[in-house]
Amino acid sequence: VLGPLIDPFGRRVTYLRLSVTDRCDLRCFYCMSERPDFLPKRELLSLEELDRVASAFVSRGVRKLRLTGGEPLVRRDVVELFRSLGRHLGSGALDELTLTTNGSQLAQHADTLAAAGVRRVNVSLDSLDAGRFAAITRRGRLADTLDGIEAARAAGLAVKLNTVALAGVNDDEFHDLVAFGHEHGMDVTFIEVMPIGEIGHGQARHFMPISEVRKRLETPFRLAPSRHSSGGPARYWTSETTGHRVGFIAATTCNFCPGCNRVRLTATGQLEACLGREESTDLRAAIRGSEADEALHTAIDRAIASKPEGHAFEAAASVSATTRPMHRTGG
Ligand code: GTP
Ligand code: 5AD
Ligand code: SF4
Repeated sequence: VLGPLIDPFGRRVTYLRLSVTDRCDLRCFYCMSERPDFLPKRELLSLEELDRVASAFVSRGVRKLRLTGGEPLVRRDVVELFRSLGRHLGSGALDELTLTTNGSQLAQHADTLAAAGVRRVNVSLDSLDAGRFAAITRRGRLADTLDGIEAARAAGLAVKLNTVALAGVNDDEFHDLVAFGHEHGMDVTFIEVMPIGEIGHGQARHFMPISEVRKRLETPFRLAPSRHSSGGPARYWTSETTGHRVGFIAATTCNFCPGCNRVRLTATGQLEACLGREESTDLRAAIRGSEADEALHTAIDRAIASKPEGHAFEAAASVSATTRPMHRTGG
């Protein structure tokens, strides 16, 4: 029988992150090179195949699906995938269908996403200064992302902002970002920059420990630890001045690995049992070889059995923990 997904460390996998494309319209310097090698489109899973794999996970107890990229909204017809996966919300098999986006095209899609059953989106926003935003993303326009956030809220979606904390780049804006988010009722989460992918832009040079970010926000936000959790790596604090939350993701330390509940599928159908490890299991071969899902479930079981205890960022120190770039994993 096809039971729940429990790894060798007793952790139950209830959350699947699906990268639907490795492409992105932006080129954030800490994520990809200026001229990234994108995968040939024929390598990617079709939308039907993505649905098939995601649905197999839902049948094994996954309760949360997050579409990522690259940028998920640059994949043509991706809203069809949201619509079809939305059926699992209707049946009660799924608690949440969501996405992480850079927001550049969110304005066009917000209503459709809401209609498909999306209730919440995470939007990446590293700066509120137009010039700096353009420099970090190399080709993004701040106004587009702000329009996307606005449209999402107008469509009734809850928005969480994600900011990568970058020493010497945006560390003078942490206050403004939290103030902006909280003013509009949005939680804000800060993320430590991770040594992922061989992009040669010295992620290490801009590393700032998340404890330092929190220290800097203590005044004026008066942060008190919150019991809120989304089962993910973020640790939340509530501001006693605004009443809204600030999340902190100590991505390079391992404090959340013992409670890890997630696995990731790349756009080519490779299942990655841990973000910070190189190993993966080929689910594409398993589905293309057979119409029935038997081989797929066998491969899923093999992947879950191989889930490591934690990532290898500390061991890797300032060199990359993986050669696979971030935009292929989707964070
Ligand atoms: P919520 O559902 O709002 O809790 O979001 P989430 O944290 O699951 O997803 P989101 O895409 O907002 O993740 C933010 C960032 O946290 C990711 O892009 C990664 O940089 C980091 N992150 C998420 N999961 C992991 C993980 O398992 N390990 C590590 N090291 N970092 C992670
Ligand atoms: N370290 C930490 N976060 C990263 N992201 C992309 N690359 C990295 C990295 N090397 C973030 C994006 C976005 C999320 C999907 O991952 O800014 O918020
Ligand atoms: Fe695109 Fe997100 Fe990577 Fe920036 S961090 S280049 S928005 S995938």
